[in-house]
Amino acid sequence: MQIKSAEFVISSPDVSGCPAPDRPEYAFIGRSNVGKSSLINHITNRKKLAKTSSTPGKTQLINHFVINDQWYLVDLPGYGWAQTSKVNKAAWKKMINTYLEERQNLACVFVLVDIRHEPQKIDLDFMRWLGEEGIPFSIAFTKADKLGKTQTQSNVASYKKVMKNTWEELPPTFVTSSAEKVGGKEILEFIGRINAEIVG
Ligand code: GTP
Ligand code: MG
Repeated sequence: MQIKSAEFVISSPDVSGCPAPDRPEYAFIGRSNVGKSSLINHITNRKKLAKTSSTPGKTQLINHFVINDQWYLVDLPGYGWAQTSKVNKAAWKKMINTYLEERQNLACVFVLVDIRHEPQKIDLDFMRWLGEEGIPFSIAFTKADKLGKTQTQSNVASYKKVMKNTWEELPPTFVTSSAEKVGGKEILEFIGRINAEIVG
């Protein structure tokens, strides 16, 4: 898929403030600092579309971008940020869970996972919740440039092995690096295929 246009639409504190659900939507979610905003910039080939930061907790609202006038890309605040308060964590959970449960045009959620780490309970629990809710998702491994090719492949294989303990069928997976512009094309092709199925 070619990116012809990528525009910021709105930042919303909750699902009721989101744009009309009139196009297929894809949301990026995962731990704080995992690289969600960077991956959005990478796949859209725009340096500053989504705001990135080396400090966790940068993205605080539900941010909608419209791509090629055809579909929405959504940047969500991250979870698992140790420094945040219990109140903030509860507010985050309510905002995100309600958005994910109620957003009718949500075609697929991309759960971002830092390729360098062992599978984390917080991510596995979140994916289990998505499964229980029947929300389709894929996994995008991030920061692959921080590891060699062999290590990357072996980490992906161990991640899948752990997931096989609870999942009969594994979700699609993508290996990405926003720093080295890897994996964006594959994600866009995947989105293009789903869009074609939805729009016909
Ligand atoms: P929050 O909005 O705070 O939840 O973070 P986020 O998940 O949107 O992460 P963001 O894209 O802001 O990136 C966090 C940090 O990781 C920044 O310092 C990025 O430069 C860095 N980063 C993101 N992607 C990559 C990558 O592919 N490779 C490397 N080496 N660094 C990356
Ligand atoms: Mg962000």
